[in-house]
Amino acid sequence: MSRTNTAGAVPAREVWTGQIGFILAALGSAVGLGNIWRFPGVAYENGGGAFLIPYLVALLTAGIPILFLDYAIGHRFRGSAPLAFRRLAGRVGESIGWFQVMICVFICIYYTAVLAWASSYFVFSWDLRWGSDPTAFFVGEYLQVAAEPITFEFVPGVLIPLVLMWVVALVVLGAGVVKGVQRANVIFIPLLVIGFLILVVRALFLPGAIDGLTAFFTPDFAALADPSVWIAAYSQIFFSLSIAFGIMVTYASYRRRRVNLTTPGLVVAFGNSSFELLAGIGVFATLGFFAFEQGIPVAELEGLTGVALSFMTFPAIVSQMPGGEWFGALFFGALVLAGLTSLISILEVIIAAVRDKFGLTRSQVVYGLGGVLAVVSILLFSTTSGLTALDTVDNWANNIGIVASAIIVSIVVLWVRRAGPELASHLSTLSTFKVGRVWLFLVSIVAPVVLAYMLVSKIVELLVDGYSGYPVTYLGIVGWGSVAIMVVGAIALTGARWRHDPEKFEPWPATDAVSLKGDLR
Ligand code: ALA
Repeated sequence: MSRTNTAGAVPAREVWTGQIGFILAALGSAVGLGNIWRFPGVAYENGGGAFLIPYLVALLTAGIPILFLDYAIGHRFRGSAPLAFRRLAGRVGESIGWFQVMICVFICIYYTAVLAWASSYFVFSWDLRWGSDPTAFFVGEYLQVAAEPITFEFVPGVLIPLVLMWVVALVVLGAGVVKGVQRANVIFIPLLVIGFLILVVRALFLPGAIDGLTAFFTPDFAALADPSVWIAAYSQIFFSLSIAFGIMVTYASYRRRRVNLTTPGLVVAFGNSSFELLAGIGVFATLGFFAFEQGIPVAELEGLTGVALSFMTFPAIVSQMPGGEWFGALFFGALVLAGLTSLISILEVIIAAVRDKFGLTRSQVVYGLGGVLAVVSILLFSTTSGLTALDTVDNWANNIGIVASAIIVSIVVLWVRRAGPELASHLSTLSTFKVGRVWLFLVSIVAPVVLAYMLVSKIVELLVDGYSGYPVTYLGIVGWGSVAIMVVGAIALTGARWRHDPEKFEPWPATDAVSLKGDLR
């Protein structure tokens, strides 16, 4: 039996002030660490220029279709992930929403740590603080990485920027959707684009830049026969577009009722991929310079992905470059801006969900729950064991959590609840770019089949090979344990009592109107 309070409906939501405000906020969420520190290395390691084929296929067959699905659910059912899914698919739906919220809880805790490092490195760029051995500096002097996987020794150099990043994100969120989130994106996104363009143009004029680009774009078509290359493309798209973990459902719930949904979605999707490509060009032009300086081919360079690329390889390059101080500051400044706007969107998923369910004010949730998350993040990531925990939680949250969430949404919403035609009609009734049978086929068949294959292969790989050589017990506790906490948290939160009645709600346009008007093609 549903334990709901019948006192009244969930209060109406704030709305973005216009199309541009929404597009910038959605772009701000999409363009993040995933674009700058993940994409270039993933593309290079998975076939270079040939990777663009699976990448484009993943974007068109799963990225954009699931982005539209998130928009349709959030906009039609006007709620945070648990509220929108509850209205769409009852209590099972609600627990999917909470599962997505729990994914965001885990991601925000480590995402802020990377932002903290980037902000430190923005400062370090001005006097090239990392010295002649940036790798030793990063793991030694800066992070003070411990040999044991779990410690509680705090590192002040990480603690201070980490607190600062939390304060900035919470102050922005505390100011509200329009005055905080939208305003921050309207300022940060143009700054990010200008700063990053300057960086890429500078990189293109470095000696050796062409060799870097040649290495990046040279296609290895044989890679396309390897399923892991396709898996890499699909997971890159999911994390990068901020889909299937509640963000786009939440952001779409803040759109006015009568609004074009799909066309801005295309702008966001192609804008995000263009930025990703730009990041690939900038990073590889710079790596070309690094190889040139050392007199070796780009293929012999090491440390081209994730943490190593940003915090070990890049500082080493910056030290060798004339005017490197500026280049480093631009790179790490871009990382902070891109990451901050994504972090804000990840946190908004949690804030909106808790507000909707428990009827609390924005300030209560932002400063109360936000404060608790900040403390957990600080406890876990400003200690000497932060790097190992970050790497592990990141891998499990993305490759297991987000992928599983997308599959479950497809099964429950499209197969069990059979809401596909209603959602397609909702999108088409309101938007200029119509969706129909092709979209339905992609979201209900192609995407879940590909994702289920990805999920099963990943689970088998993690069980058989482990991860990064970390101890099996540690992976059990931190990796699988994180996913278990997500599931338990989702079930427990679904069981809690609603402050207002989530079902006191009429979708607009009315179900009859959308099913009559929607032209399924
Ligand atoms: N979409 C965000 C990123 O790429 C989460 O980092």
